[in-house]
Order: sequence, then C-alpha cells, then structure tokens
Amino acid sequence: MLILGIDTSCDETAAAVVRDGTEIISNVVASQIKVHHPYGGVVPELASRKHIEWIQPVVCDAIDKAEIDSSMLDGVAVTSGPGLIGALLVGLNFARAFAYGLSLPWVGVNHLEGHIAAIFLEEDPPGFPFVALLVSGGHTILYYVTGTAAFELMGQTRDDAAGEAFDKVSKMLGLGYPGGKAIDQLSQKGDPIKIDFPRAYMNNYRFDFSFSGIKTSVARYLQTHSASFEAEIPDIVAGFQEAVIDVLVRKAFEALQEKGCNRLVVVGGVAANSALRKRMEAEAARFGVTLYIPSPELCTDNAAMIAAAGYHHLVKGERGALDMDAFSKGAARKIVKV
Ligand code: KG4
Ligand code: ZN
Repeated sequence: MLILGIDTSCDETAAAVVRDGTEIISNVVASQIKVHHPYGGVVPELASRKHIEWIQPVVCDAIDKAEIDSSMLDGVAVTSGPGLIGALLVGLNFARAFAYGLSLPWVGVNHLEGHIAAIFLEEDPPGFPFVALLVSGGHTILYYVTGTAAFELMGQTRDDAAGEAFDKVSKMLGLGYPGGKAIDQLSQKGDPIKIDFPRAYMNNYRFDFSFSGIKTSVARYLQTHSASFEAEIPDIVAGFQEAVIDVLVRKAFEALQEKGCNRLVVVGGVAANSALRKRMEAEAARFGVTLYIPSPELCTDNAAMIAAAGYHHLVKGERGALDMDAFSKGAARKIVKV
C-alpha cells in the first residue's frame, strides 16, 4: 500500500511516499530556516505563506522521486495537529483536495503519533510494548506504547519543551535558530561539568518535566557573568545540555522501571542530539535495555513518519471527514487510548 504523507505543522514543508508503513520510497523536506532565521524563531504567518507557495512543488517532487504516478497511490495521510494552525491548514486542505480529486482515502494524523511511527521506518523496529520519550520543539512526553494506536500518557512537560529550551538558550547566546543543532555542535568544544545548571527532577511528579527553570538559570548566569561569558559559551551550552540530558535520561529509565519494560524508543527533533544519543546508549547497555532511536533525519520533522502512522489508520478503515479541522494543542490526550 503506497501512502503519500504530508506535514506542514511548523516550518518544514514535507511530503513523502511510504510503502506499507515501513519502507520510505521518497522523503522530501523543504526547510524554511532561511525565512525565519532573521527573526530568531518561527513567524507563523510567514510559515503559512511559504507552505502555500511550496506545498504543490514539494508533493510533486515526492511523487517524482518515488518514480510513481499519482494514480499508483493508495491513500493520503496528513498532519492535522498539533502545530501552528495556519501552517497545518495548508497541508490539511491540500491533502483533502488532492485525495478528493483522485478519489483516494485519506486520514488526518496526530503529529506526535507520527514522531513515534518514525521508528518503524528503520530496520529492526521494536515490538510492543515500549516506553517512548518524545522530545521535540513543542513537546516533551513519556508514553507507554502497547500497540500502533495505543498510547498511555505517563507524563509531559509542565512548561517549556526540551527543544524550546535549546532554542531559547541559543537565542540568548546569539547562536541562531533553530538552536538545538548549534548547541549540539558547540557543546563538543565545552566542558559539561564546569558550570552546574539545576536539574528539575521533580521527584513528586516522576514522569513530568519542567525546562523553564534551566532557561532562566542560564539567563541569570549570563547577567552575572556579563563581562566574561563570551569566552565561556562552549562550557555554558555544554553544561546546559548536560543538565537537560540528565533529566531526560533519568525519567526515561524510571518509566521503564515503572512499567517493567526493557524497550526504549526516543524520538523527536531533540533525539537527533549527539550527546543525548550517546548517553542513552550507555545507560541502555548498563541496564540491559534495547534502545531504538531513528536516524537524525527521521527525528526532526518529516512526512515519511506521517505516512507511516497514517497507514495503520487507513488499513483499519478510518477516513478523514470533508469538514475535519486542524488543531493546535491538546494532542497528548487525543492519542491516548488505554
Ligand atoms: O521534532 P521537531 O523537528 O519539530 C517539532 O515537532 O517541534 O523538533 C524541533 C526541535 C527544535 O527545538 C530543535 O532545536 C531541536 O528539535 N533539535 C535539536 C537538535 N536538532 C534539532 N536539539 C538538540 N540537538 C540537536 N541536534
Ligand atoms: Zn515534530
């Protein structure tokens, strides 16, 4: 079954063709980084406009690269939320019209479910159940996943997402947007234990997260060391990154312990972080846990993961409604089916 996936949830216009929810035939991601870079973050209105401009060429490119004709598609899967509402509506309306024009079945897909489905595009995917740590620019969530659409929400961030903290710290230090990759690279030149930023373990809320405190703590450090911080930037970002990783690692392994589970899946843009990947690997080896992390290109936003998730809904006979709306928030609850 060949599914066309479409994602326009944030600042990437993405389309992909995936066979049977597991095999990527083509995967096109048009990044709007250059559009938003001067503003230090995503400007929603500009994102929507770029999606309108790019959606058709990107979808055509995905179909061309798959070396198929659109008549060979069996269905369409599109992100319906969460994300920027104007941006989502571009992809959703395009997908709906495209599917209607070709008389194809289509479904709206939860972006977070898509991130988790990315792991099924890799070789040797996990069996069920597994604990999934989803760390992206908009979310930090722990799920206990027992089936393709069976997610138990174990905990989530109470304020900023981990990726958001990377982006904000990057902005404070003038390292540009998006910040995760810049901090990842610069941290390799710094000492992660020289500056000790606080870890919000929140022991009474074992599976919830909070990253706004560490962001404030970095801001305060910069204010109190304003004369000297330029030279310390690699140590500051390495210390910040280490603190975020400590929290993510501890909570993910506690979640595994709680569920008596030995499979851990880490997904979302922050899962592309090289230090996080190394630490997760080391801890997994130590505790006899099998770790699954998608390749970095499948951690960050893409449409192959949306096609992979949509496949399971389409084969079950689910169909999108002509009046389906996009949604910006509240996603964590939308995919909980325990
Ligand atoms: O999953 P994603 O592409 O989009 C959302 O659904 O939010 O995640 C984007 C986030 C951004 O905050 C970005 O800074 C972060 O992922 N990110 C990274 C890295 N690559 C992207 N964070 C840390 N290290 C990286 N290498
Ligand atoms: Zn995402």
